[in-house]
Amino acid sequence: MADVPNSAQAPTVNARFRVLLATSELAPWVKSGGLADVAAGLGRALGRRGHDVRIVMPYYETQFDPAQPERVVASSFIDGYRIDVLEARLGDLSAYLLRCPALYARPGTPYGDGAGADWPDNDERFGVFGRAVAWLADRHALRGFVPDVVHLNDWPSALAAPFVTAQPDRPGVLFTIHNLGYQGLFPRESFDRLETRIGLDRSWWSPAALEFHGRLSFIKAGLAFADRLSTVSTGYAREIQTDELGFGLGGLLRQRAGDLHAIVNGIDTDRWDPARDPLITHHYDADRLSVKSRNKALLQRELGLEVESRRPLAAVISRLVPQKGIDLVADALPELLDRGLQLAALGSGAEDIERRLERAGIDHSGKVAYRGGMDEALAHRLEAGADLLLMPSRYEPCGLNQMYSMRYGTVPVVRRTGGLADTVDAATGFLFDEPTADALVQAVGDALDAYVDSERWLRLQQNGMRRDFSWNRSAADYEGLYGDLCDRHGR
Ligand code: ADP
Ligand code: GLC
Repeated sequence: MADVPNSAQAPTVNARFRVLLATSELAPWVKSGGLADVAAGLGRALGRRGHDVRIVMPYYETQFDPAQPERVVASSFIDGYRIDVLEARLGDLSAYLLRCPALYARPGTPYGDGAGADWPDNDERFGVFGRAVAWLADRHALRGFVPDVVHLNDWPSALAAPFVTAQPDRPGVLFTIHNLGYQGLFPRESFDRLETRIGLDRSWWSPAALEFHGRLSFIKAGLAFADRLSTVSTGYAREIQTDELGFGLGGLLRQRAGDLHAIVNGIDTDRWDPARDPLITHHYDADRLSVKSRNKALLQRELGLEVESRRPLAAVISRLVPQKGIDLVADALPELLDRGLQLAALGSGAEDIERRLERAGIDHSGKVAYRGGMDEALAHRLEAGADLLLMPSRYEPCGLNQMYSMRYGTVPVVRRTGGLADTVDAATGFLFDEPTADALVQAVGDALDAYVDSERWLRLQQNGMRRDFSWNRSAADYEGLYGDLCDRHGR
């Protein structure tokens, strides 16, 4: 793995980079997971450091509405579709929204109908997105903005990489892996169709390029063609080079180890600040932690839990997919309840896990509460009101919730994997190794032993609250990478 310059001491880079940051989601406009928060937080932090960052994303116009509909700054035809580029602002962020109603004006999530099914034409939707990003990277596409760096994130924007790197006089390309478990795999026919429709090069149908065991892999476009790769924690950078967590791409990642960097995510410490959060009722900080219990009482009441200040309350806020290990929480529930724990879970995803949590809420009413759907405000109230956060992830590239929790004095109990192991330690939380219900019960038991020792608990809370998880340091690391890319591409 290549070294990232140590940003703690790194001087602020003098160069001002023009960065085209491609993402399929952006908080709070449209969010299905952490990528939305990261794109917004990183974009803002880079802007504050003096860089000119422009976000580019599809305009899912039925899912969000930027305050003012913005002017069209460029248009093109890709794959027979007219793509209008709208310039938009989200606070201090600048964004280019790619308007193409036939592809993007749909309800649900960026990827599917919201009821669990992906859109059947995601190859085309994100093929066009990647092609459009590459078009905007060209120095003639946008008046007044010629990017030095194109920063791609996860499979939905990955297809831009081979197109940009084929351009003469081009910007540098960074591809960030947020989750290798999502690869954008499509049948061979998708490649053939996209070859004709958006100009995929025939030579890219090769195991060294976009082919993955007979299928088209979008993520490989990023992994094989970007100048540099990064991922969102040191632990995950190591893990994705193994057969177990490389999801079939470990070999390619080992080959590219010299270009692979690890930059841990930051969090937006303005939006997630218990002293000022407009989404919570009682504000507090590390020196006024007793106030937190008032949020707990409100939360217990709101969720129909028994209102008991001394009963430990654990929260889960998660996509309910196998990655997150929430089935382990369901398996462990009888024992956790025996230990006197209350559980408040918020999340949606796999139907079987949703059903188990729903059932638990009915069977153990007053002790377990489950809410489905995406509810940003409730996520904040949970962080402010709970004592513990459970994240028993089977793998976790970085994870943001454990950092939000620590900032809110909510002690995380996490599996020692990926970014969880990078960001939680014995001074701030509880870690366990085996992805089993027994190991989770054991770790929660340790946490509950600490909970009854109020001085020890306070120390754990305060340690977490005083950690610096802000974006500044990580933004400086990205800056270092952008600098290398610019040196290489003479920008
Ligand atoms: P991932 O991106 O894998 O889902 P992260 O921990 O990086 O995991 O980010 C998840 C983000 O999504 C967090 O900001 C978390 O609060 C939020 N989140 C997950 N599920 C929900 C939900 N049901 N309602 C509100 N926010 C949610
Ligand atoms: C992914 C990962 C998560 C990470 C997020 C933002 O969705 O699952 O661990 O925090 O991306 O990088």
